[in-house]
Parts: sequence; C-alpha cells; structure tokens
Amino acid sequence: MIEMRLAEIAAVTGGRLHRASGDERVTAVEFDSRAVGAGGLFLALPGERADGHDFAAAAVAAGATGVLAAREVDAPAVIVPPTEQAAGTYLAEFDPTGAGAAVLAALGRLARHVVDTLGDLTVVGVTGSSGKTSTKDLLAAVLGPLGPTVAPPGSFNNELGHPWTALRADAATRHLVLELSARGAGHVAALCAIAPPRIGVVLNVGRAHLGEFGSAEAIARAKGELVEALPAAAQGGVAVLNADDPAVAAMAGRTTARVVTVGRAPGATVRAEDVTLDAGRPRFRLVTPAGDATVALQLVGVHHVGNALAAAAVGLELGGTPAGVAAALSASRPVSRWRMELTERRDGVTVVNDAYNANPESMRAALQALVAIGAAGPPGGGGRRTWAVLGRMAELGEQTAAAHAEIAAAATELGVDRLVAVDHGEYGPSAEHVGDVGAAVELLRAELRPGDVVLVKASRAVGLDRVAADLLASPDDSSTELVSR
Ligand SMILES: Nc1ncnc2c1ncn2[C@@H]1O[C@H](COP(=O)(O)OP(=O)(O)OP(=O)(O)O)[C@@H](O)[C@H]1O
Ligand SMILES: [Mg+2]
Repeated sequence: MIEMRLAEIAAVTGGRLHRASGDERVTAVEFDSRAVGAGGLFLALPGERADGHDFAAAAVAAGATGVLAAREVDAPAVIVPPTEQAAGTYLAEFDPTGAGAAVLAALGRLARHVVDTLGDLTVVGVTGSSGKTSTKDLLAAVLGPLGPTVAPPGSFNNELGHPWTALRADAATRHLVLELSARGAGHVAALCAIAPPRIGVVLNVGRAHLGEFGSAEAIARAKGELVEALPAAAQGGVAVLNADDPAVAAMAGRTTARVVTVGRAPGATVRAEDVTLDAGRPRFRLVTPAGDATVALQLVGVHHVGNALAAAAVGLELGGTPAGVAAALSASRPVSRWRMELTERRDGVTVVNDAYNANPESMRAALQALVAIGAAGPPGGGGRRTWAVLGRMAELGEQTAAAHAEIAAAATELGVDRLVAVDHGEYGPSAEHVGDVGAAVELLRAELRPGDVVLVKASRAVGLDRVAADLLASPDDSSTELVSR
C-alpha cells in the first residue's frame, strides 16, 4: 500500500479522527487483529462470533497504527459515517446496525483513492460462475514476468477481499488482478467502482448461486456488469469474453470496450487447438493473432483450457508474446488449495481433492477429469477404477433436485465406476449412499485398491476435504506420500 496519514484516510473516507493527531502513518490495512503490525490500519468488522470493534485496543497494543471503525473505540481511529447501502453485504447477517457495511464502504473509498493515485496501473478484473480463482492464479503467473503484479491470495472476491487486495498495490505495481464475485445484481458493478478495470474477463455463466439469483438470465446480467464498466475501446478498454459460452459471447453487445474472444471455437481471437489430456492435464496449441505456441498445463481438468486462454489473452494485451505466455502457463503449478488438488499415494491410489466448492458445471468438469485420469492408466497400461465421492451442491434453489440427478446421470454416462453420495439422497439410485464423512472414509478404506482414482467434491460447507485428508493421512498407512499437488 502507498503510505498515507490517518488524517488523509479520514478525508478520503469521509470519517473523523478519534484519539489521533492525524499524523500517524499507515502502510497496510488488515482485517485480522493477529495479522496487523506496525503501520497497520485495523478494520473493525463484525463477524460470526465477535465484533472487530472489541479488538481495536488489542490490535493497537500489537502495533497497529489505528483503527477504521464505525463507532468510538479505545484506540486511535478514523470513525466512518453510516452508509446508505447497509443491506446486502456478505456480512449482512452479522451486521444488524450496519456498522460493518459502513466500514466496508469506507474501505472501498480508500481503495478507489489509492487506485486513482497509482496512474501507471492496469486493473484486470475477472468474473464468472466458476474458475475465477484458478484464472486469477494463471493471470498472476502470466503477468508477473511482464511487470510487478498484485493478485489476491485465495479467493478474495467480495466487498472486503477485493478492496483489501487493491490496497496492496503501490507505486511499483503495474498490474492489479482482481477477482469479482456476485451474489446478486449490482455487486460486480460496485466492485468495479472501487477499482475500475481496464481489462475485464468473463469466464462463464453457470448455475453457482442460482438460488439467490433466480434465473440464468439474472446471473448473466450480473456478470455482464463487468464489461459495462470497462472504458471504451478508444480509452484502452478490453473485454475478454469466452466464445464457447453463448451467454458470455453475447456480452459483446453490452460493452464499448474492444472485444477479444477466447475459446475452442474456430472463430475465437485467442484459441486452443489440438486439445489433448495427459492424465487429466490439458495440452494444446495456443493460436493467437501474434503467432502460436504450445501449452502443457500442470493443472488437472479440461476446463482449465478456457481459464488459461483468458489469462493468455490478457498477457498478450499487456505486452507478452505467445511463447512467453505459453511458457508461464505451462510452468504454473496449482496455487489455491482444494481445487483439483492431485495427490498420489505410495500404494498407487490417486486422490483428487476438489472439495473447495461445487456447482453443476464444475462437477461435470471434475468428473470428466476423473475419467481422463482413470483412462490414462498407470505407467504399465490398463484403465484404473474411478470413484466419485460427492456431496451436496448448495445454492441451486428450485433446480437442486434436477441438478443432482443430472450429475448422477453424467457420472454413469462418463463411466465412473463407483459413485458415492455423502449425506445426500438426491443423487438417486445409481449412487451408493453413506451418512456422513466418517462413513465415506470407512467405505473407501475398506474398498480402495491400489491404482484407484478418487475424486472428492461438494459444496464447501459439506466439508469433504476431510475425506481427502483422511485418505492421505490414515494412521495405519505410513506409506502415504505426497508426491504432487
Ligand atoms: N472454467 C471452468 N468451468 C467449470 N469449472 C471450473 C472452471 N474453472 C474451475 N472450475 C472448477 O470450479 C471450482 C472452483 O474453481 P475456482 O475456485 O477457480 O472458481 P471461483 O470462480 O473462484 O469460485 P468461487 O466463486 O467459489 O470463488 C473448482 O472445482 C474447479 O475445478
Ligand atoms: Mg474464487
């Protein structure tokens, strides 16, 4: 972050100084009182269990310079004004007074100020139903060699993580990569107002959060707010759109930015040809207006082709060459955890941990990858038995039952050998049903054979990462070894 004095922060956020001279220097913003150190500005946010305002004094005792707060605290602070848009933030359920929304609104104003101050900065925004974090990681890999790049850790994509990431940019930063999530209309537009992107990537319109949105059209409208926020082509605006997803391709009509299409479609500006899978890892020829190059991803799943193409298109816009971009993509290792995280046990069992999240599109992609890994076979040849250990897909609203039935049918169609449903009846009769994570582990321990491939996937709240962890750390299996992620 660029250095700012508390008085400037008060001016930018519309807040007032409290127990502070205003001269105090701030060099970082933190929401975790344990992470905040000298020069830190602690964000007093309400949470599920506690209110950050109660940790204000502790944060300052631990070295923080001050606190961004919605009410007076026992520490030097900027007290921010109430916000009119109190409803609808990610923390709304813990925020009856709107104090958290007020601090988030102030944080957004602060981030906007910093982004505006850093003139020589290109903001790249990524949205879509699935693949934002994966693409963000690929973008960081592609843009890093082209200039100092700030990208969020993990999946920081809401009213807190997005501006928090933007504030990490400083005068040396050339590229700021941001992940933009939407749980409803207007969310993406609001994030774009905090850090206006010059380049916007829309990956896909799937069924994540369908329950909250109501319809696929509503999801497409919300994701498209990103391309509407871009500057016009003459001002350098670039919309990177997935040509393989009709709902995304149609967004070309909603932007004045220059459109670059990516995909496997023959007409796409930046496209993948000759896609093959090497034990689930895609290889393809990157075809671009500037020339071709070969990409061999280390990520598992054919869906990463689209993510990689989007990252490539942005890299080419920001001065990369096809060969340079392809090399960066090929060298990129999985960064964010529990997304198709592949581990080989010494007994030859492969565990694919995709327990981070699930929606019908990512489920299908994961099943395809599972089958591809199985079909590739062990070094000696021959197919491997495939297991899909699946839990509930949340947030699908009325489509919940149909979507689970669809995934069960897809598993059968693709030839998955064993489908195990954990605590969820809607996968239907083709699945073996177990009551909980413990029962799933028990079944797998009893029946897994050397060489089997096990995919573990559900919505985050189901906690299927514990199945993967158990399979990799069984007390009686000292031979377990983490070979690769
Ligand atoms: N382009 C894609 N199409 C379908 N599924 C994908 C795609 N990219 C990634 N996935 C799968 O979607 C899941 C989530 O991936 P990732 O974390 O990259 O997405 P995200 O959009 O950041 O998700 P979130 O909304 O939870 O932040 C993983 O299971 C991953 O394997
Ligand atoms: Mg994410």
